Amino acid sequence: MSAELPEMLAADFIRDEPDPFHWRMGVRPLELDKWLIKDTRFEVDLAELRLQLAKRRDEIIYCEEGSEGACAEIYAAIRAHCSLSEVETFVPAGTDIIEAARLIVQEDLCVMTRKNGFWVMVACAVAFPTSWDVQSKFGKSLDEIHEPVPRYSKDLSKSMNVFFDRLRAEAPVWRSNRTLSDRSSLRLEPYTRTQEAQTEITIDNVGDKVFLRVEYQTLRKFPVSDSVLFTIRILQQPLRELLDEPVALRSLVRGLARMPPDIAAYKRGTSNYVELIAEWAKGSGLEIT
Ligand code: HEM
Repeated sequence: MSAELPEMLAADFIRDEPDPFHWRMGVRPLELDKWLIKDTRFEVDLAELRLQLAKRRDEIIYCEEGSEGACAEIYAAIRAHCSLSEVETFVPAGTDIIEAARLIVQEDLCVMTRKNGFWVMVACAVAFPTSWDVQSKFGKSLDEIHEPVPRYSKDLSKSMNVFFDRLRAEAPVWRSNRTLSDRSSLRLEPYTRTQEAQTEITIDNVGDKVFLRVEYQTLRKFPVSDSVLFTIRILQQPLRELLDEPVALRSLVRGLARMPPDIAAYKRGTSNYVELIAEWAKGSGLEIT
């Protein structure tokens, strides 16, 4: 695995966003050493994963009949990437292959295959969703999965489906998205999407109490089963750490200010503190033009 890579930080993924706002695919070529990344949080993340599995396995693991071939192909690739042998990663009875794969990496995993012309999630192991209801996406198509996302059908639906059809095994990609949250837990329950701002968060503590949460996502095609693996890795930093990254903080503050009302309502956890963050950033010496 890629122990020699410098640690990935949430702030590294903040870029200027489109003005006026629109969703973009934003996919870039992926070098395979940056596919699944083991970092210093490995033990902590995996302990949290095991805790969540013990509490609510049925909300995390999905594996529909017929997906076993895709999961096995993907598991073999993950095992090889992590330099683990079959013996070291023996799948005990009662454990789904996708669960076994999830238990050796820090990333959540979603397996998509083509069914009647639609890309459908046939298996997954998602313990750390960003305020979405994982169970409600089991067995669903890309369009159905993204149904709650405003402007998805206008900005993304067509290009997404074409993109999935054309994705080649030898050309994997990555993308990212960003959210703000007043919680630092890896798992964000769906109710956190619509939660009101906490009154005790003020200009004096917003830098420590609000977190930038980035999903580092990768997409890789597996040719034998004609499936796509979508991985989601959560990276988080308290906003205060972005004071050392003024270019990223400026892009973030500008992007937040441009969020239209429908997106702000969908991403309430993110929109709750927009004005407070702008004020705090300016008060900390950031110039925002
Ligand atoms: C190129 C591929 C993809 C693009 C461009 C894309 C784009 C997006 C965007 C723009 C959002 C809203 C993000 C936000 O909250 O800031 C979103 C949300 C989401 N995406 Fe994707 N996505 C992609 C692939 C996938 C795949 C393969 C899955 C499979 C599970 C997925 C699952 C979700 C879910 C569950 C949400 C949250 C929906 C909700 O609120 O219930 N995405 N996606």
